[in-house]
Amino acid sequence: MNVQQFFDSMDYGPAPEADSAAREWLARHDNRFGHFIDGKFKPLKEGEGFDTFEPATGKILARIANGTATDVDEAVAAARAAQEPWAKLSGHGRARHLYALARMVQRHGRLLAVLEAIDNGKPVRETRDIDVPLVARHFYHHAGWAQLQDAEFAGYSPLGVVGQIIPWNFPLLMLAWKIAPALALGNTVVLKPAEYTSLTALLFAELATEAGLPAGVLNVVTGGGETGEAIVDHPGIDKIAFTGSTEVGRRIRERTAGSGKRLTLELGGKSPFIVFEDADLDAAVEGVVDAIWFNQGQVCCAGSRILVQEGIAPIFLSRLKKRMETLRVGQPLDKAIDMGAIVDPVQLARIRELVELGVKEGATLFQTEAGVPETGSFFPPTLLTDVHPAATVAREEIFGPVAVAMTFRTPDEAVMLANNSRYGLAASIWSETIGLALDIAPKLAAGVVWVNATNLFDAGVGFGGYRESGFGREGGREGAYEYLKADAWAKRKPREELPAQPEPKSSASGFGLPVLDRTAKLFIGGKQARPDGNGSRVVVGADGTVLGEVGEGNRKDIRNAVEAARKAEGWSRASTHNRAQILYYLAENLSARGPEFAARIARLTGVGSSEAEREVEAVISRLFTYGAYADKFDGAVHSPPLRGLALAINEPLGTVGVIAPDEMPLLSLVSLVAPLIAMGNRTVVVPSARYPLIATDLYQLFETSDLPAGVVNIVTGEPKALVKDLASHDDLDGLWVFGGKDLSATAERLSVGNLKRMLVDHGLQTDWLDPASGEGRLFLHHAVQVKNIWIPYGD
Ligand code: NAI
Repeated sequence: MNVQQFFDSMDYGPAPEADSAAREWLARHDNRFGHFIDGKFKPLKEGEGFDTFEPATGKILARIANGTATDVDEAVAAARAAQEPWAKLSGHGRARHLYALARMVQRHGRLLAVLEAIDNGKPVRETRDIDVPLVARHFYHHAGWAQLQDAEFAGYSPLGVVGQIIPWNFPLLMLAWKIAPALALGNTVVLKPAEYTSLTALLFAELATEAGLPAGVLNVVTGGGETGEAIVDHPGIDKIAFTGSTEVGRRIRERTAGSGKRLTLELGGKSPFIVFEDADLDAAVEGVVDAIWFNQGQVCCAGSRILVQEGIAPIFLSRLKKRMETLRVGQPLDKAIDMGAIVDPVQLARIRELVELGVKEGATLFQTEAGVPETGSFFPPTLLTDVHPAATVAREEIFGPVAVAMTFRTPDEAVMLANNSRYGLAASIWSETIGLALDIAPKLAAGVVWVNATNLFDAGVGFGGYRESGFGREGGREGAYEYLKADAWAKRKPREELPAQPEPKSSASGFGLPVLDRTAKLFIGGKQARPDGNGSRVVVGADGTVLGEVGEGNRKDIRNAVEAARKAEGWSRASTHNRAQILYYLAENLSARGPEFAARIARLTGVGSSEAEREVEAVISRLFTYGAYADKFDGAVHSPPLRGLALAINEPLGTVGVIAPDEMPLLSLVSLVAPLIAMGNRTVVVPSARYPLIATDLYQLFETSDLPAGVVNIVTGEPKALVKDLASHDDLDGLWVFGGKDLSATAERLSVGNLKRMLVDHGLQTDWLDPASGEGRLFLHHAVQVKNIWIPYGD
């Protein structure tokens, strides 16, 4: 090319990054890697392990160990032995280590970036400018949480040994997201990288040990799904943190059910990218490039569903296509390319299949093939237009460089289309009207919303999904809590069995007048409702006297109650002041009828009158607590390293089921329901099976306290049966189960359909009278999910 031609085309040539250091590191290990356990590599015996390939060339890169249950055992033992000394090191001691890791990442940034590009196929421009700096930032930020742990997380302790399973799309970054908070807060780790991309985790572990990280604190076991399952099942592990597909996430939820292991899941997405007609269209076009062609679209929060307002759709899509023509696909180590290789031929085949299906289902295909290498796993930037919202490609995660585009007319329609997904990870809004953007952001079912931006991440801003995109957050304060347990709850003991209930005494009164039938009905949608099955159960007092009957609720009643709760959506939008007022009003009305409730508690449970009065007093105080918190448990304004803000908003989960325990039946029930409704949730409550009359007595209280219909629905009946109906109901967003161990296990196992947010007590008994364990932030954290709205406002 001569100078004239160069100026004519303004093209630029390849700018390859040197890979010698990375290749030397591989060669130093003979291209063979055993697990990294207890501070050193285990030898990989001849004939063992599996090959890992370079996506851009298809060549074998290295041979890697395939972890067995015995390997996992060994890694867990090393992590367990290291945990106590690591936790005891003090926050400052751990802060020094995390700081050293951050510095180590920066010192070896180039090696890490190059190896990541070779192993994963992503452009080195991205690994160098995005992955590695974000990894370093994560360790710096979490060095800070370690330093401040005593001050900021008083009353919380590390969980212990954490099993972490990560995917292949951001191998190093996901490692950092997982291990930085775990280690900072005093846990030790057994990490399993994805089978396609294990190398940077192994390099990281080796470098970390050189940087002084004590042996056993970070262990890396390599392998595929079976190795992952061995980690999930290991009894010596206190928490599983997983990032990957929704399908595997579900399986992990099922396998950990009833084990008492803590669990966080960061799963798939099909995130909307909404372009309003007043958007800066050129900026939005660049936004799409970052949304779906960053990392070849293998991004869980990729803006893969472009929703564009009808009037501007033609011009926007034509500009987008023009921009696509300038995207360069090529060798990952070429610094002048925009897109590298797809991680593995299996993924490539899956992308091809889905795109073909999209075309079959009526979409119009646009691809820019120029320069796409002929060998290796490459796929061109792809746009599917004329896509129907119900088409497979509009619903399923493609996990490749494929955007689908649809149009909408009004903001309401945009919200409807955006939320028409089982996922809820992220969303991006493009509009020059701040009022419009901020009106839409809270309406989107997504854990992260970017305004006039996309794919922004920071260690200080929580990341995580709504709905089937998983639960739990990574990053920020909320991410730190995922690696801590509350001391007040850790002290809980297994629930003591209550003595068997006495046989009912006949209440027949000879020739006197018969007692009028007082079967308490269910309470659904603000009305007393006869149970669907027309059955009832007798409730006896502690002395065997029949005190009444309550309805025997069934699956249909649960469905009706969930529907009523769904209709009470207005409650989630009610002002926090309004919710507080109603909680206070409930307390006021209960206070007026205190003696009556105390007498009921005494007759039902057999406690003395002063104890019963104490319970009622505690309930009044509890309602006040949540009235107080309703407008105080609010979010945060983060200042990530950009000119702009991220607003962390505590949003309600939606409709939440509650199974209340037998002990202190009024106090425990109110302690569970009040935090939920204070935060704007609607509830479907199954009260204590033994003392349900205490709940049915509340109906009048609800009716006279301005509590809107449907906010609290009560279905009396058998918790062992009703827990199944609640857990498997796909329109219920969360479930709190306090009662026997089996109830918790059943609830967790059956909650996988829509991946409900769960709070279960595993049969441990809460001290309801003690505010440290019976009320407050411990419950409130579980009553909300944090949405982070990013608002960049300049350069
Ligand atoms: P995957 O979910 O199977 O793999 C993620 C990690 O889980 C890997 O480390 C894998 O070895 C491990 N794993 C697999 N089966 C397991 C099991 N039964 N128990 C414990 N761990 C297990 O994802 P895969 O198959 O690599 O990709 C398939 C699809 O998943 C992609 O096309 C994409 O749609 C989605 N995906 C989403 C990711 C996200 O970040 N949301 C990341 C990776 C994949």
